[in-house]
Amino acid sequence: MNNVKAVITGIGSYAPERVMSNSDFEKLVDTSDEWIRTRTGISERRIKADGAGTSDLAHEASKKALKRAGLEPEDLDLILFGTVTPDYQVPSAACILQEKMGAFNAAAMDVGAACASFIFGLATGSAYISAGLYERILVIGAESLSTITDYKDRSTCVLFGDGAGAVVLESRNGSTKEGILGTVIRTDGRHSKLLWIPAGGSVRPVRPDNVNDPGLFLEMAGNEVFKLAVRAMCSAAEEACRRADVAIEDVDLVIPHQANIRIINALTKRLNLPEDKVFINIEKYGNTSSASVPLALDEAYSSGRIKAGDNVLMVAFGGGMAWGATLVRL
Ligand code: UT7
Repeated sequence: MNNVKAVITGIGSYAPERVMSNSDFEKLVDTSDEWIRTRTGISERRIKADGAGTSDLAHEASKKALKRAGLEPEDLDLILFGTVTPDYQVPSAACILQEKMGAFNAAAMDVGAACASFIFGLATGSAYISAGLYERILVIGAESLSTITDYKDRSTCVLFGDGAGAVVLESRNGSTKEGILGTVIRTDGRHSKLLWIPAGGSVRPVRPDNVNDPGLFLEMAGNEVFKLAVRAMCSAAEEACRRADVAIEDVDLVIPHQANIRIINALTKRLNLPEDKVFINIEKYGNTSSASVPLALDEAYSSGRIKAGDNVLMVAFGGGMAWGATLVRL
């Protein structure tokens, strides 16, 4: 058994105020409230204010998580920021956030695993704590997907929203019953172009002559991603439980990535879970990529749906393809 273990001591989230409803999309593209609700489960999503950066959303979520942990920003020794929509290409969103928070005793870096970035951040943070390298780590999932969404493409624009979530991980004695008990992360780069932004990187950089390139927005082969997501999330969930030595029946709540209600329902069925053990808030926020799991975790915690001692299984899947799961006892 490890001498030290990573325990979640604070949870926070933030969703921007501006709401974009399904009927707003009926004015933009050929779609309907009925199609969006039945095919995705989404009713509305949040959109950040003009001029705000992803780090601003993360800052709000982080303040709440730190307060609940009873810590000050200077107490942190590492910030892991999961995002596909950093404020700038350089420097990292983590460094921008560090400055905003005044967390000057921490090292800060971004974690890039698309919608699974928060789970990858938890796995990384937990490993650093177990190795004895850091003791108080802020792990964030935050996104401004509205900035990489093509509002002319009906197959993607109705899906995405903005938001942020954060947790504080702290080092505790390995014999403690709570903490991160099992975690798994996986990738398969063979499917990298099923969900990607073709332009804007080193291969097709943005230049004055291609600023209107539609390739600067997210593109997704929805159907193929859907099938991969169900299979991968199911196997990651089972593996995290195995590694934690916790039976799936002993999980109190599953918090899946909120990409599509039909993916969540398929996962629920495959894992043989009762519906009331699976948390769903996609109707309010849509798909917020790396923010979706911590946003849901905070809602579940703040509403009393989960409490200290509960086994919580978080599972996510996204571009890369990258996926993973974490079993934590709160
Ligand atoms: O977060 C990372 C992981 N992401 C995911 O896991 C997302 C996975 N994929 C999905 O959630 C679903 O595939 C979508 C919601 C993206 C699409 O749902 P679908 O049931 O797979 O629809 P489809 O792409 O097969 O399209 C069915 C029809 C098409 O029309 P035709 O060709 O049958 O005439 C689309 O053009 O629905 C049409 N369609 C729409 N119709 C109205 C696509 N988008 C829309 C829309 N409104 N917004």
